[in-house]
Amino acid sequence: MKAGEFILGYPDESGPGPALPKPKVLSRNGSFMAYRRLEEHVGKFRDFLRAHGETPEEQELVAAKLMGRWRSGAPLVLAPEKDDPALGADPQRNNNFNYKEQDPQGYAMPLGCHCRRMNPRDTTQGNINRRRMIRRGATYGPQLPEGKPDDGIERGIAAFVICASLIRQFEFAQNVWINDKNFHELGNERDPIIGNQDGTLEYKIPKRPIRKVIKGLPSFTTVRGGAYFFLPGLKALRWLASLGDKKQPEK
Ligand code: HEM
Repeated sequence: MKAGEFILGYPDESGPGPALPKPKVLSRNGSFMAYRRLEEHVGKFRDFLRAHGETPEEQELVAAKLMGRWRSGAPLVLAPEKDDPALGADPQRNNNFNYKEQDPQGYAMPLGCHCRRMNPRDTTQGNINRRRMIRRGATYGPQLPEGKPDDGIERGIAAFVICASLIRQFEFAQNVWINDKNFHELGNERDPIIGNQDGTLEYKIPKRPIRKVIKGLPSFTTVRGGAYFFLPGLKALRWLASLGDKKQPEK
């Protein structure tokens, strides 16, 4: 991937990259960042798994079908039946798969699961490398102990998404991959983890001989805050720090 997809002032996947915003001393080597504070309804998620799976194994399969990966990180395309912690821990293997040949119908990884929406890989239109994002996240709030009902305390994820164009990368993901009800011609679905759910949408799990359709998907997350930031590079920070000396920006 070209550096210009994430850092301003370098060639990107379409060529030499856009002109730097002025003053260039501030924008070169900078990035844009979207911040989202997402509350996670952990008790509701666990109740949902219990309602849709009789055994703990079935419940884990439902969770993996919503996400596209098992808790270890192993992708369902490579581990369709049960978790494979060795695969999940192996960065050489756990991203080495495609959808077009290995799982075109979504029998392993449903077409609408979080990972498949957020990176449709070889099943996207256009160059997928124009839509990539660098992600950093951290959880906040106390853990909800296993078996305890929701306690009303806010907990969730602080998500940071870094890219060269908030519109082409982050906002595209928000509007199309996460919230387009007809993504992959699914008809009546949004991202099951972070899509805007109002209880009227469904989630389809392709399966032979008959697919499973979960109606009235609840929302497992609520957006509690968000902001856009500009992250200056080191030279830009030095320049900002020196402004007291009345230095002028480069033209
Ligand atoms: C409650 C919020 C979220 C949860 C629990 C969550 C969870 C996950 C998990 C478990 C994975 C698979 C492991 C990994 O690749 O890191 C993943 C992948 C991913 N998520 Fe999220 N995520 C959340 C929010 C977001 C947001 C807000 C974005 C961006 C707008 C995002 C974008 C992605 C992307 C791009 C991938 C990689 C997919 C791939 O390359 O196959 N996620 N997420």
